[in-house]
Amino acid sequence: MKKQKIIIANWKMSLTLIQTLGLAKRYRDKFKDFKLGEVVICCSTPAIADVAKLLKKTNINLGAQNVFWEEIGPFTGEVSPLMLIELGCRYVIIGHSERRNHLFENYEMVNKKIKTVLKTEKLIPVVCIGESWQERKTDKRDYILVEQLQLALAGINVFGNQTVIIAYEPIWAIGTGTAIEPTEAEYAHKIIRLALNDLFNTQIVSRNFKIIYGGSIASGNVKSFVDLENMDGLLVGGASLDAVEFYKIAKILTK
Ligand code: PGA
Repeated sequence: MKKQKIIIANWKMSLTLIQTLGLAKRYRDKFKDFKLGEVVICCSTPAIADVAKLLKKTNINLGAQNVFWEEIGPFTGEVSPLMLIELGCRYVIIGHSERRNHLFENYEMVNKKIKTVLKTEKLIPVVCIGESWQERKTDKRDYILVEQLQLALAGINVFGNQTVIIAYEPIWAIGTGTAIEPTEAEYAHKIIRLALNDLFNTQIVSRNFKIIYGGSIASGNVKSFVDLENMDGLLVGGASLDAVEFYKIAKILTK
């Protein structure tokens, strides 16, 4: 069975709240009749409530860019998965490389976050993995991807129709304007699928997991990614800040 493709916009901390609402409105208008794939907006946390109101009667889903690994308690500055659910989020990005880099988030934390998120049974984790330029240059990529998955998914059970999204985002391709070669992305996605098959079983992996790509995707290069065998969707940063451009990417992805 062919899975529905998913396209996730990661607006990062690129916009003010007013700009965020403006962009959400442009998405709402542009995607009015879009039904072919699943569209998700991950805006910054303080904007989620207002964006949720704007997207209420649309097909666009809402996601957060981060979450904490406890449901409630004395954790100053953190955001609970229960709050994200109350706000109307369906997705949450976990372990983005910018958080690993600037905030020293590691895969032990990523693992705890995935566990808590799956426990809610209402949020879908978008788990980011990917190698640095140095790791790629020194031929460590395959090993790094497997290790990241093993750490991120240690002790995790996936039940029923729960979904886990693995976003392969080579760090060197993020925000640089240079995406990975599509054949290389396919190779990495195959490694990821094999590693997942080792951790779970093939039935669970094909039913419950999606593998998506992120890193300098734009309307000009997306075409060569869409027909790759192990490609269930995209995580888009820079190009998602323009509703027209993002719509073009979504159309090509789901054609
Ligand atoms: P980019 O970002 O599309 O701007 O490279 C992708 C991401 O960081 O998720």
